[in-house]
Amino acid sequence: MLPHYLINFDLGKLKKIYTDFLIVGTGIAGLYTSLKLSPQGEIILLTKSKIKESNTEYAQGGIAVALGDEDSPRLHLEDTLKAGANFCDLKAVKVLVTEGPKCVEELIEWGTKFDKIKGKYDTTLEAAHQRPRILHAQGDATGAEIERSLSKKVIKENGIKIKENILVLDILVDHHICYGLLTLDTNTKEIIAYLAKSTILASGGAGQLFNNTTNPDVATGDGIAITYRGGAKVTDLEFIQFHPTALYHQGSPKFLISEAVRGEGAVLKNIKGELFMHSYHPLAELAPRDIVTRAITDQMKKTKSNYVFLDATKIKDKFSKRFPTIYKNCFSLGINPEKEFIPVAPAAHYTMGGIKTDTWGQTNLANLYACGECASTGVHGANRLASNSLLEGLVFGNRIAQKIKESRLPFSIKRGEEINISYNISRKKYKKINPEKVKKELQKLMWDKVGIIRTASNLTKAQQKINQWKYLLELELKTAEEFELANLISLANLVTLSALQREESRGAHYRKDFPLRDDINWKKHIVY
Ligand code: SIN
Repeated sequence: MLPHYLINFDLGKLKKIYTDFLIVGTGIAGLYTSLKLSPQGEIILLTKSKIKESNTEYAQGGIAVALGDEDSPRLHLEDTLKAGANFCDLKAVKVLVTEGPKCVEELIEWGTKFDKIKGKYDTTLEAAHQRPRILHAQGDATGAEIERSLSKKVIKENGIKIKENILVLDILVDHHICYGLLTLDTNTKEIIAYLAKSTILASGGAGQLFNNTTNPDVATGDGIAITYRGGAKVTDLEFIQFHPTALYHQGSPKFLISEAVRGEGAVLKNIKGELFMHSYHPLAELAPRDIVTRAITDQMKKTKSNYVFLDATKIKDKFSKRFPTIYKNCFSLGINPEKEFIPVAPAAHYTMGGIKTDTWGQTNLANLYACGECASTGVHGANRLASNSLLEGLVFGNRIAQKIKESRLPFSIKRGEEINISYNISRKKYKKINPEKVKKELQKLMWDKVGIIRTASNLTKAQQKINQWKYLLELELKTAEEFELANLISLANLVTLSALQREESRGAHYRKDFPLRDDINWKKHIVY
């Protein structure tokens, strides 16, 4: 049995901070939810790093939304369901595509500037979309523009207090009611309990489970891990999306080369310079993301190479204008995408599963909500349609605010009210752990054994190794790195267990030993 809390504590003796609404995460979901909720009460917005450090900040391609006359929510729904490999929640997808346009319009009203041509929004095509419906900003800096506009508004909003460098440790739960969060101030090293009427997790995904990832260091899946420890349901964790094209350059991080580059006409070639995508899927470069990722993996194996090439030279006149961030990054490493092929390889990109919620962002713990990448609303199924994630953050953040407004908060906490929660287990004092070293070993193990192509034998080996690390959760942990590592170990365990359990291939979950989709036995969710 894993411990319920990562630290021993007695709430009565801890420093306590009260608020109406506690929100964790400053990506699109956390910022937008804060703004939507702020008319209803005081908000404390926590982030473990700086306000802008989130997966949203690095989102390039854009935000998918059916806006023009040529498009419709119906078509957007069809594409989302198809990419999701017969595993999306239809109700949730309907909510996403029909409520999405209004939220995006609000984002625009609030100051997000999407790119336009001759006064009209310049929408691009991405894989598995029937229509060019991806809004983008400053070419390939869509996430950064959204972060800029939303964080500016949040900072100005009187009712929202932003607290940076606060790492969440656990959910304070009593009788299936969430009262707030136990946190570590990583500057002062103080443990603080934040108590609230409602707690909303918008804390992002877990790309850091893998050594090859497009995600920043902060993406350690803390929200999902603490929810599981707190007794709420998590689901679909076997579905990790691997982005087909991260820059491959020895010694440099896996910088994302947006799918929009293929949407604008770039093609994939193996190291012999041969086109290959047509032999894997009729949509070739614009096939669903999981298919392109496996095709690249297959070509890398066949050509004994660590990468393939993305040939974007055909869009040479506008590459530097249309994709200025990618251009700058490639150029700084000596690659000119207007003249040379870009070496690329797949990397972990998005956590499709997460905290199980209904279509109002509610978890199975009273007063606990989740939205954005840490949540599993069912909209992504087994393979997220490109650029649907930013939209999801808006739509379900908005719904949480609506739900909270309508609900009577039966278990609401009052300032100063005594809640007695404490936890005390015997914690082994162990020789000093080296969290950085264990994290690296874990990430490599996950990539090698729980990555793009999975087998029972590899998954079992991974499980055995992860089991050996579980003792870490019972030690006296102190630093942010140690707590994050504990979360990664908890999640690695759940991802591996679910991947082993799901004996079929579906979307991003590919089992070499069960290569076919099995709708008869496996059209069901694995929930922990
Ligand atoms: C990309 O720009 O390729 C990423 C978009 C996404 O992950 O949805």
